[in-house]
Amino acid sequence: MNLEHFLADDQLNKKQILDLITLARDIKQQPEKYNQVLAGKSVAMIFEKPSLRTHVSFDIGIKKLGGHALYLGQQNGKLGERERVSDYAKNLSCYADAIVARVFNNSSIEQLAQHGSIPVINALCDKYHPCQALADFVTLAENFSDLSTVKLAYIGDANNVSNSLMLMAAIVGVDFTLVCPEGYGPEDKMFNKALKYSQDSGSKLLLTTDITALGPQDALYTDTWISMGDNTNVTDVLTTFKPYQVNHKLMAKTGASIVMHCQPAHLEEEITTELFDSEMSVAFQSAENRMWAQNAVLVSILAD
Ligand code: NVA
Repeated sequence: MNLEHFLADDQLNKKQILDLITLARDIKQQPEKYNQVLAGKSVAMIFEKPSLRTHVSFDIGIKKLGGHALYLGQQNGKLGERERVSDYAKNLSCYADAIVARVFNNSSIEQLAQHGSIPVINALCDKYHPCQALADFVTLAENFSDLSTVKLAYIGDANNVSNSLMLMAAIVGVDFTLVCPEGYGPEDKMFNKALKYSQDSGSKLLLTTDITALGPQDALYTDTWISMGDNTNVTDVLTTFKPYQVNHKLMAKTGASIVMHCQPAHLEEEITTELFDSEMSVAFQSAENRMWAQNAVLVSILAD
């Protein structure tokens, strides 16, 4: 597969997503087959926000493919402040073979892709987290033999993670329910485009504020109630979000067999410690799959 960039989930069609899942699983099973695929290639990694999983899984993942990863934090000034994002992209294009970027604004990702001459991978922005969604779909494929029958529900704040999951589910044909408190749902534009993809794939996409109406599910997913870059104080939203906590009671009510979380988990907020630490949690399986999924993207983008 030849991908130019990996910026947002819906730049890929169903076949491309399923092929990436298959490739990720193959790299996971036979890493030695791919250990020279990125030989001689360098990836510049820009991080405007903190990161544990993304930083480490890209860095070590790139080395497992025989390539070289370079971490660029904010020590040289904020992206777009010391020099234009377009110039940043043009300069990196002189040395590196690809850019991985975790940024505040989606527009920075788009500018990097537009002005650079090398592929760009979105490692999280305000709108999307496609690397996480791809890893989560690898995890779903490992847990359920037929993805087309899976019912996935995301409960909590509509954010970059839920947008990416919603788009990927709609494109791939996984039934997806988004349960958010009033006022914390997705932007209409984002939801409407996912709705269109779900109509094309024949899957169901539901948006509700009513947590008590959540029907049978295979997997429940949650994420922080306050994302990086949002300065809201958690105490201000606790009362609103508390009924949306994912816990054993909700697992039992929906019949879900696994619970997913992109991490970092805010224990006793969006998920109970007991559930996060339980056998039902696949959070660390997904964390590992971040590396294999991203390596599938890197191979698709950079392999000769
Ligand atoms: N929604 C979270 C995801 C962290 C991996 C955030 O943007 O902070």
